[in-house]
Amino acid sequence: MQTSLARIAWITGGGSGIGQALCLKLVRAGWTVAVSGRRPEALQETARLAAGNVYTYPLDVSDLEAMRQMATRIESELGPITLAVFSAGIGHFLKLDQLRAEAFAEHMQTNYLGVINGLDAVLPAFRQRHAGHIVILASLAGYRGLPQGAAYAPTKAALINLAESLRFPLEREGITISVCNPGFIDTPMTAENHFAMPFLMNVDKAAERLYRGILKRKFEIVFPRRLAWLTKFMRILPYPIYFALMKKFYSHK
Ligand SMILES: NC(=O)c1ccc[n+]([C@@H]2O[C@H](COP(=O)([O-])OP(=O)(O)OC[C@H]3O[C@@H](n4cnc5c(N)ncnc54)[C@H](OP(=O)(O)O)[C@@H]3O)[C@@H](O)[C@H]2O)c1
Repeated sequence: MQTSLARIAWITGGGSGIGQALCLKLVRAGWTVAVSGRRPEALQETARLAAGNVYTYPLDVSDLEAMRQMATRIESELGPITLAVFSAGIGHFLKLDQLRAEAFAEHMQTNYLGVINGLDAVLPAFRQRHAGHIVILASLAGYRGLPQGAAYAPTKAALINLAESLRFPLEREGITISVCNPGFIDTPMTAENHFAMPFLMNVDKAAERLYRGILKRKFEIVFPRRLAWLTKFMRILPYPIYFALMKKFYSHK
């Protein structure tokens, strides 16, 4: 972070899971944090757990105007945002008969366009100051197509590509972009998964890894390590081998 600017973070999806756990870590490290999400009571719970320096700004990330206004309001009330973490997201692994256009649209609106709205909201001020760090929560699920991941995984693949595309144009303006690709983390989102989740990681541990990655300003922040290496390997496999492995995994379901 630029030393001249106070440490002020804005986290979307800060009312639960990874966003909440990261918020608590940042506050302990001396940050002031604005948290956003749709449920005010969830945000207030994050503020209660932090016991200071957390301010709640409820909104829906799919509402572009609300995102723009909120970024302006946070800056006028707390000061310049130096770190924006876009963690708001939904994730449903759906069977073929649950796949309706509405499910695809909801995932895209929240996961992908929600981040686009966040970028639109913070970038004018970040560019003016030639400073700022943006962290996008994507997923290892974005590396390759996954059975039952048709509504969720493409939104994360799009986010990874987005971060890669923006890296150098933003770097030229003094802005850092990071993409965080977690594996399975124990949060309310994964509580609905009724399949075995390899290397499921505790949310505090995940937030610690994310926090350390942010401090190092890494482009890609991945955890848990073992699943990350496995999926990185799977990503470079040719289709016949990849599909043979997927078929084997899927036939157990
Ligand atoms: N858990 C995992 O295994 C895992 C793995 C890879 C990637 N991720 C990604 O990590 C991020 C955080 O997930 P999590 O596991 O921490 O899940 P989570 O506990 O369900 O957190 C997601 C948060 O996003 C907020 N949210 C959802 N839709 C929103 C909307 N339209 N507007 C504003 N806020 C919205 C939710 O709050 P409200 O309902 O109050 O709005 C919730 O607090 C997500 O982007 C997810 O895809 C998670």
